[in-house]
Amino acid sequence: MLLLKIFLASALIVAPGVLSVSVNFPYESVQLNTADIRRNPALRYGNPVETPDPDADLPHCRAWPGSHDWPAADEWTKLNTSLNGALLRPDPPAAACYPSDARYNATTCRWLLGQARQTGFWIDDPLVVLTQWPQGSTCPAVMDAKGNCTRGGFPEYVVNATTAKHIQAAVNFARNKNVRLVIKNTGHDFGGRSMGGGSISVWVHPLKNIEFIPKYTTDSYEGMAVRVGAGVESWEMANFMAEHNITVLTPATTVGMAGGWIAAGGHGGLTSKLGLGSDQVLSINVVTADGKFITADPDTNDDLWWALRGGGPSAFGIVTSVVMRAFPPIRSTSMSVGFSVNPNLPNTARPTSNATSTAGPRLGSSTLTNVTAFWTGVKQTYRHCLQANALGGFCFSYIYPLGNSSFTFTHSFSVPSITPTELTSLIQPLFDSLNTLGIDIPLPRMPPNMTTIPRPPPGAFQGFRGGGDAPINTRYRSRLFPRANYASDALYDRTWTAIRHSIEEGGYTFHGIGYTPTREVAGPLGADSAVNPAWRVAALHASLMETQPAGGMTAAEARERDARAAKYLDLWREVTPGSGAYLNEGDPMEPNWQASFYGDNYDRLVEIKRRRDPWGVFWAQTTPGSEGWDVKVLDGYPGSQNGRLCRAWV
Ligand SMILES: Cc1cc2nc3c(=O)[nH]c(=O)nc-3n(C[C@H](O)[C@H](O)[C@H](O)COP(=O)(O)OP(=O)(O)OC[C@H]3O[C@@H](n4cnc5c(N)ncnc54)[C@H](O)[C@@H]3O)c2cc1C
Ligand SMILES: *[C@@H]1O[C@H](CO)[C@@H](O)[C@H](O)[C@H]1NC(C)=O
Ligand SMILES: *[C@@H]1O[C@H](CO)[C@@H](O)[C@H](O)[C@H]1NC(C)=O
Ligand SMILES: *[C@@H]1O[C@H](CO)[C@@H](O)[C@H](O)[C@H]1NC(C)=O
Ligand SMILES: *[C@@H]1O[C@H](CO)[C@@H](O)[C@H](O)[C@H]1NC(C)=O
Ligand SMILES: *[C@@H]1O[C@H](CO)[C@@H](O)[C@H](O)[C@H]1NC(C)=O
Ligand SMILES: *[C@@H]1O[C@H](CO)[C@@H](O)[C@H](O)[C@H]1NC(C)=O
Ligand SMILES: *[C@@H]1O[C@H](CO)[C@@H](O)[C@H](O)[C@H]1NC(C)=O
Ligand SMILES: *[C@@H]1O[C@H](CO)[C@@H](O)[C@H](O)[C@H]1NC(C)=O
Ligand SMILES: *[C@@H]1O[C@H](CO)[C@@H](O)[C@H](O)[C@H]1NC(C)=O
Repeated sequence: MLLLKIFLASALIVAPGVLSVSVNFPYESVQLNTADIRRNPALRYGNPVETPDPDADLPHCRAWPGSHDWPAADEWTKLNTSLNGALLRPDPPAAACYPSDARYNATTCRWLLGQARQTGFWIDDPLVVLTQWPQGSTCPAVMDAKGNCTRGGFPEYVVNATTAKHIQAAVNFARNKNVRLVIKNTGHDFGGRSMGGGSISVWVHPLKNIEFIPKYTTDSYEGMAVRVGAGVESWEMANFMAEHNITVLTPATTVGMAGGWIAAGGHGGLTSKLGLGSDQVLSINVVTADGKFITADPDTNDDLWWALRGGGPSAFGIVTSVVMRAFPPIRSTSMSVGFSVNPNLPNTARPTSNATSTAGPRLGSSTLTNVTAFWTGVKQTYRHCLQANALGGFCFSYIYPLGNSSFTFTHSFSVPSITPTELTSLIQPLFDSLNTLGIDIPLPRMPPNMTTIPRPPPGAFQGFRGGGDAPINTRYRSRLFPRANYASDALYDRTWTAIRHSIEEGGYTFHGIGYTPTREVAGPLGADSAVNPAWRVAALHASLMETQPAGGMTAAEARERDARAAKYLDLWREVTPGSGAYLNEGDPMEPNWQASFYGDNYDRLVEIKRRRDPWGVFWAQTTPGSEGWDVKVLDGYPGSQNGRLCRAWV
């Protein structure tokens, strides 16, 4: 069956027999062919139908360097030849920090610990991911590091993927040779899902193409769209948006547009208006576990079309590109509110600073001594966010513990297509109420036009790599709080008793983002996807953040920290029965993660996974079907990727 679509610059390839494939970019036209396979039989395709029992005749563990089934050097060389030299064996950059290592170079190490982050070095590195602990702390970047730098949870080989063929060859080789396969885009994943010891990594980062489609028409959509390569980052899309005078839903600056973000749902500033990242998708090109390159869209491969949008990263295939919805430019107006509490100050203490950590004009901040007033004000502010949500807006906030029972609260409201005056009227009642509580912040007074975030001129983002990203050890543990928790005073109070306890007693930094990506907002396409149903009724995506010392923590300490945090998360779970958490910013050690991250979509996802990938080629922790395997961790860190991947019962 042919697909009837209007494609501006795309070819329609009908592969022999089965597949209708819409090629978005030239790099997808370069595909594995029979001559390649004749020259290197290790690249032959898989046939899921011939493998009815996923557990039959399959090895207990993936190959491991030195194991009898680890491919010999000449097999890697042959693979490299098939890949036209795109097989890399990168060194961990931090090797430069180890005086015991031949690669030691103090100048390089200092640069890594300093300026490297501003240059985008870490995002562009084929090996490194931004969260350190899954690697096993065997080569953290610290000055004059003790011990030896070893590969640990880093992959053995990396495929520098610049064509669909590279990806197909990697998948087929890994499957046929029993080698663990991982997929890396930007390396943002907080749960070690873009790395793995003893693996071959498919690095999709180089796939940077973007293309504007002024009119994209299918049975289910008519409007503007963009084709997005698998390696495109949010800031690159921002440049593109500026150049083309369009808006596309995007995450934070260096997060990938088409990798883990879409695969687990994905949120962005306009999520209450446009839905989640996965709700933007119109079509997906993907290499499946059998090595085939296919298109999944509402007409074709409907199982994968459903699963790839929210059903978990690195589970169903390697996405090469997507088509996403685009809109006329949408500008948002933002306002911040912030206040602090320090019960140790003399009662006469007055505002110390108007500064808040969020962007936009400042309404003021104040330091209180009255703890009750502080938390009452916090609760009122979060509840007021529902009014911004109703207009398609969102709220972005932190509560930072400062020690000695002092806390700072920063919170911004951001609403699309609204004038500063309108936003002021929206926020005014909150300020009146805060003032009544004795929270002495000035009433909203602002220059009328200052708040509109201007559309950046074309090219304004060029060279800006965003974020200052470098590897750290942030542990996210989170929960989606349903709108229902805001409905009655009693339940809202219980909700905040739980949250407050985790901040006051737990001492964690609280991060809350107020979003309402309902089914209505998602639209018919988005609503019928594998996204965690908990998102659809949520009002707050809330996290407890903990930044753990790099390399300075033993595995036992890591386990203690997990156990401690679990106590506080349990309080959150008690007040949100039946809800869940956002995988990408959730705890990789989440209990009952199947229900938490996927809700009642889980069984269908596992069914699709078994059918499409009976070999278990794709594996990442807390993805559908992943409980059949685990990493035999060498370092004892919970969730570490430093070890051999084996069937769970081994
Ligand atoms: C600084 C920072 C800011 C963030 N901001 C946001 C935000 O604004 N909104 C939000 O929703 N989340 C945010 N996140 C979380 C983010 O969505 C996740 O970390 C997400 O996993 C990033 O996806 P990636 O593809 O960029 O990263 P990676 O770590 O490279 O990949 C993540 C997962 O997706 C898989 N994957 C990657 N590419 C592909 C592909 N082509 N095909 C199949 N699987 C693939 C990987 O194997 C891995 O399992 C943020 C994270 C950080 C560190
Ligand atoms: C793959 O081949 C290229 C080009 O010949 C070479 O530069 C590279 O080092 C090879 N990779 C490996 C892992 O040997
Ligand atoms: C260390 O790295 C710096 C910067 O890349 C380089 O200039 C220098 O030659 C290196 N030193 C050694 C001993 O390799
Ligand atoms: C580090 O490597 C050296 C040389 O290979 C070896 O002698 C030493 O025992 C190693 N140290 C540790 C802590 O493993
Ligand atoms: C990946 O391949 C591209 C295209 O050949 C090349 O330009 C780039 O330098 C390679 N990247 C690495 C890290 O080798
Ligand atoms: C951008 O698009 C909007 C809405 O489609 C239009 O009103 C505006 O004039 C355009 N601006 C530019 C610079 O093209
Ligand atoms: C804080 O804001 C008020 C009112 O806008 C202003 O009068 C005061 O100078 C500001 N204080 C500081 C420290 O900026
Ligand atoms: C602290 O604030 C609460 C809530 O506004 C109020 O009821 C209480 O009287 C205040 N306490 C003091 C000592 O001012
Ligand atoms: C907490 O209070 C103690 C005693 O007043 C003081 O020594 C310490 O510096 C304070 N700590 C912080 C983080 O403010
Ligand atoms: C402020 O906005 C109004 C209406 O949008 C516009 O007429 C006016 O020129 C703007 N003023 C400034 C200083 O930009």
